[in-house]
Amino acid sequence: MVRLTRGTYDPPMWSPYTIGTAPKKMRPLTTKEGLGDRLRLIAFAERQAFHAFNHAAAHFTDAPEGLREAWRWVALEEAKHESWLLTRLGDLGLEVGAVPVSLDLYHSLMRCEGAREFALYVSNAEERGRVGAEKFAQVLAQVDPVSAAMFKKIAEEEVEHIRLVDRFFPADGNQSGALG
Ligand SMILES: [Fe+2]
Ligand SMILES: [Fe+2]
Repeated sequence: MVRLTRGTYDPPMWSPYTIGTAPKKMRPLTTKEGLGDRLRLIAFAERQAFHAFNHAAAHFTDAPEGLREAWRWVALEEAKHESWLLTRLGDLGLEVGAVPVSLDLYHSLMRCEGAREFALYVSNAEERGRVGAEKFAQVLAQVDPVSAAMFKKIAEEEVEHIRLVDRFFPADGNQSGALG
């Protein structure tokens, strides 16, 4: 059962993205449009993370001291990453809303029912994102050094977000990989 807060589908919350069903296959990374598909997808993951972290900070009163504050900081960091990605998309002359994006990540994050569950789940999602960003940085190093440097920086900064689990739930950190 997906619990949605009031206003979840408000256009301002997801603007200027087009919410819908994301295409099953992205275009080849070697094309400008294919790079745009990844920039858009990751930018939207950052936006979903921004809202989810703010939601967690506002609602999970069972969080250890300092974690809710850390989540509010991470939310701002995700918004910064999103702004880098959207700027690059715009520099390439590509439209944010040209391809639909899905709210699956946001919905899965909103299904978490407490601080610990959210922390472990989001850390696992961020690790997958970090690995993906690192891979794009390597693949793009020769063909698009600007995008490559941006993905590398994002991957580096995600490390600190992922470490929050070890900091606040030290006994659980090594189990986070088991969450889907
Ligand atoms: Fe991020
Ligand atoms: Fe993050």
